[in-house]
Amino acid sequence: MTIPRDQEGNQHTTAAQTTPYRRILLKLSGEILAGERGLGIDPSVIGRLADEVVSVHSMGIEIGLVIGGGNIFRGVQAGAQGLDRASGDYMGMLATSINALAIQDILEQRGVPTRVLSAIEMKEIAEPYIRRRALRHLEKGRVVIFACGIGNPYFTTDTAASLRALEINAQVLLKGTKVDGVYDRDPKKDPTAVRYEEVSFMEALQQGLKVMDAAAISLCMDNDLPIIVFDVGAEGNLKRLVSGEQIGTIVRGPKKE
Ligand code: GTP
Repeated sequence: MTIPRDQEGNQHTTAAQTTPYRRILLKLSGEILAGERGLGIDPSVIGRLADEVVSVHSMGIEIGLVIGGGNIFRGVQAGAQGLDRASGDYMGMLATSINALAIQDILEQRGVPTRVLSAIEMKEIAEPYIRRRALRHLEKGRVVIFACGIGNPYFTTDTAASLRALEINAQVLLKGTKVDGVYDRDPKKDPTAVRYEEVSFMEALQQGLKVMDAAAISLCMDNDLPIIVFDVGAEGNLKRLVSGEQIGTIVRGPKKE
């Protein structure tokens, strides 16, 4: 799908479809990009994910994107490989920049304007991360892809997604994964595992539910930013979700009286 742009490359959509969201932060794990290969980038997978993003962008929703780097390098496994954690994390951050450039290219091939903003300066290939610049790009209808996590080791890309979501005033953090929500036990190991439609931040933290790491959840909890965990691999799921359908598991604070 190609969306028309004006002379400055800005894209204008009619936002004909209704949506409860004006601005979202979508977090995609790097592993998804690898598809069946388990490593690297599968062109058909990244193309399909880009189509999902395009369909939401065409609704007039402003999109921030954080992609992990696990398809290229996993910082947490670095210890097992004899590297220290910080070095492994930096390698992981560089891996996210490769994925960011890949998704940028694929989205722009589909007519969606994008900007990659990197938390680690690499100005030959990406703009440095500057919050106000990110906001301006979003206002102009560009998909903003945040690369290199938050630029510091010991933080995951989930935490980067929470932080960036808050910084850009996103209304929701959408965590696109391979599973269709949050379960009480690992559904791959236990077929009787039950999926939650909704859990509170506190339940997620106390029960160690596989939503995101504790730092990422705490940040969302303290700032009242809901997280929705959903299967981004199912065709049309992202669009249905932003159209207001109940998909996946929502993690949020208790309802205010
Ligand atoms: P507006 O001025 O708001 O319209 O934004 P813009 O991004 O179009 O303007 P700018 O002139 O800053 O950028 C033009 C192009 O250069 C865009 O593709 C940017 O992503 C790119 N760009 C801007 N700053 C940098 C940088 O520090 N490094 C790299 N690699 N590209 C940059």
